[in-house]
Amino acid sequence: MGKDVIIACDFSGADKVFEFLDRFGEKRPFVKIGMELFYSAGPEIVKKLKERGHKIFLDLKLHDIPNTVKKSMKVLSEMGVDITNLHASGTVRMMEAAIEGLTRPDGTRPLLIAVTQLTSTDQESMEQDLLIKEPIDKVVLHYAKNAAKAGLDGVVCSPLEAGKVHEACGNSFITVTPGVRFADGDVGDQKRVMTPADAKKIGSDYIVVGRPITAAEDPVAAYDRCVKEFVD
Ligand code: C5P
Repeated sequence: MGKDVIIACDFSGADKVFEFLDRFGEKRPFVKIGMELFYSAGPEIVKKLKERGHKIFLDLKLHDIPNTVKKSMKVLSEMGVDITNLHASGTVRMMEAAIEGLTRPDGTRPLLIAVTQLTSTDQESMEQDLLIKEPIDKVVLHYAKNAAKAGLDGVVCSPLEAGKVHEACGNSFITVTPGVRFADGDVGDQKRVMTPADAKKIGSDYIVVGRPITAAEDPVAAYDRCVKEFVD
């Protein structure tokens, strides 16, 4: 599994994405498309980015009854995305159904990773709103193990959790980690951050980087710096 930097293209419309990616010339970075862009630009954005040669992580975080997730995953798989995701809280059965839906007739499929607990959920909200009384670290690892059991390829987690996830689920279980910041950069609203170099040391497989690249004065230089620190 090759390590890579994924740019979170959190733009409000297709024009802005293409304007941004045009700055990269012949380079074709791996990009993440989230709900805002997908819902505003539609599936066409995936098709256009694929045609331009980008790999795509489609971050739609599915969570529904197994049959609906299975059928929806089939649609995403046919779009040719490279990575997609769901909520592990949808249960092992939902995750197994997702894998079935994603698997193409020739046996290939996009990588499927799980969200464990959102980083916006803390111990207090988990206990009060969701009535889950266990420590959040334990819940995250339990959900990661469920994902592995269902045959998923990995999880989205903070770089600080990547080591523990690998210990619990094995080194080939992928960790995709947002919350990455340069040592001399703005932290913004991210609470638990790590530099690309440290994310590499701790064993993240992919880092998802948004504003440190998209809001940089020179996004291409910022991307190259990420790749240099994380991949090379
Ligand atoms: O701009 P920034 O580097 O903070 O962007 C991080 C990206 O990763 C955003 O698209 C954000 O929604 C996503 N993400 C995150 N934390 C999670 C899951 C996803 O920051 N736990």
